[in-house]
Amino acid sequence: MLLVASLPAALALGLMVSIMLPQPASCTTRHYTFNIVQHNVTRLCNTKTIVSVNGKFPGPRITAREGDRVLVKVVNNVTNNVSIHWHGIRQLRSGWADGPAYVTQCPIQTGQSYTYNFTITGQRGTLFWHAHISWLRATLYGPIIILPRRNETYPFKKPHKEFPIIFGEWWNADPEAVINQALQTGGGPNISDAYTINGLPGPLYNCSSKDTFRLRVKPGKTYLLRLINAAMNDELFFSIANHTVTIVEADAVYVKPFATSVVVITPGQTTNVLLKTKPHYPHATFLMAASPYFTGQGTFDNSTVAGFLEYEEQSDHLHNKTKTLFKPTLPALGDTGFVANFTRKLRSLNNPKYTSATVPQTVDKRFFFTVGLGSSPCPQNTTCQGPNGTKFSAAVNNISFVLPQTAMLQAHFFQNFTGVYTADFPTNPPNPFNYTGTPPNNTLVSNGTRVVALPFNASVELVLQDTSILGAESHPLHLHGFNFFIVSEGFGNYDPTNDPAKFNLVDPVERNTVGVPSGGWVAIRFQADNPGVWFMHCHFEVHTSWGLRMAWIVQDGPLATQKLPPPPSDLPKC
Ligand code: C2O
Repeated sequence: MLLVASLPAALALGLMVSIMLPQPASCTTRHYTFNIVQHNVTRLCNTKTIVSVNGKFPGPRITAREGDRVLVKVVNNVTNNVSIHWHGIRQLRSGWADGPAYVTQCPIQTGQSYTYNFTITGQRGTLFWHAHISWLRATLYGPIIILPRRNETYPFKKPHKEFPIIFGEWWNADPEAVINQALQTGGGPNISDAYTINGLPGPLYNCSSKDTFRLRVKPGKTYLLRLINAAMNDELFFSIANHTVTIVEADAVYVKPFATSVVVITPGQTTNVLLKTKPHYPHATFLMAASPYFTGQGTFDNSTVAGFLEYEEQSDHLHNKTKTLFKPTLPALGDTGFVANFTRKLRSLNNPKYTSATVPQTVDKRFFFTVGLGSSPCPQNTTCQGPNGTKFSAAVNNISFVLPQTAMLQAHFFQNFTGVYTADFPTNPPNPFNYTGTPPNNTLVSNGTRVVALPFNASVELVLQDTSILGAESHPLHLHGFNFFIVSEGFGNYDPTNDPAKFNLVDPVERNTVGVPSGGWVAIRFQADNPGVWFMHCHFEVHTSWGLRMAWIVQDGPLATQKLPPPPSDLPKC
């Protein structure tokens, strides 16, 4: 037909085709330089030196569109070893840029630099970056904002403005000293002195009202708030007085929208919410606040960070004195019911247009991991401040993971892993017990650098079971390199006979961090389509330090596009 078509007809057809075809993806490369420096910061009337990026606290934001390549040159100008993790970025075949020290890279030493190079594929929303060595992420963190491709829109009304709201945790002491002391004594680390919103503790702390975050809005508009929990050891409730928000995205995946007055967010999680402001000037100020959700037995920072939601008025100064202040109501500290109700409402859009993964309907490899605390012996001739004179420890399947002296990904890639790790991580708990009942008398963990090796593209089902050893506690488990689907969760012990019938294989939420319910379990599924070494750990930094961490190795696939490329030439050496 085309061959005999007249010239004008062919031209018209060509024109039509070019109009109808989607625009070629115009992807850009975004360059950033992160200078790691020391600088002085004052909070709570206390001045101290912190490690920061470019002298900014919180650190600078990375903004990119889906499909963009991001290059971040990190230059280490401080005495600490440093590495940066791009939390939640899938790092498809770019494991060298993932960042966890001694897992995918040796740390960047003083005076050295390393350029992280990755492409953002199939993700849009909010993530964050943070240091991934020791406790440096207490001050080294910042937002990653992934906008839709040019010519693409949000699956919701375009907001009037967007703001990152990043929660952090502030110590008057040096966080490195805090964790080093805790690991030495075996006791729990000193708790933080404040929570922060965008680095500011707010008016509820002593000597802090000038350091208050203020969100200035106009009436009758919709704002997008990009919530990030970058706190070290605490899950948070967040609420804005007299306002509800609509959740539209979690961990850079859109979700079915739902309205709520309180958002639950674990460390490592991110959530975009729409805030519709009141139609008329309310002549009032509204407190926005975050306080901890805590289910464990130790001490914790039980304080509240607050900021103000302010409606800008032309004659602001005239009204200032008469404005009423409204305060939000947050759930009680240990309200597990509220949290379970909240997480149940999170559902994926289940629209292939907006995801890079689909929930595996069949399973190749099944795993059952316990997660929780334990103890390790006190060295001879010392006294320890952990449980019954021992040292606190934490484990997955009773193995407290020991970081190697060299990077696991290199050992894997060059196949010289002997003495670095063993691929014999147990599929099931070595000694089964009533996980959420009376804990066993022997709470000792074993130590090791043991991993699970997975064939390329295996579909994996993993049940994470909390234990009651040294107290049941919610654990925000984070998996590098993948999004997983949360197909079910419950309280008590997982029942492999009856629970699978309740799995949601239709619209489960897709995330990179999940709160394993306190005294309960969660079942997740993911497709091991990304070759490399992928860390999985509790995003409570103290639990990670105690060993609640492990790694998965995903082997190369047969095709060239299924293999991990060789390391970049500037990859740091140990
Ligand atoms: Cu945000 Cu391995 O962590």
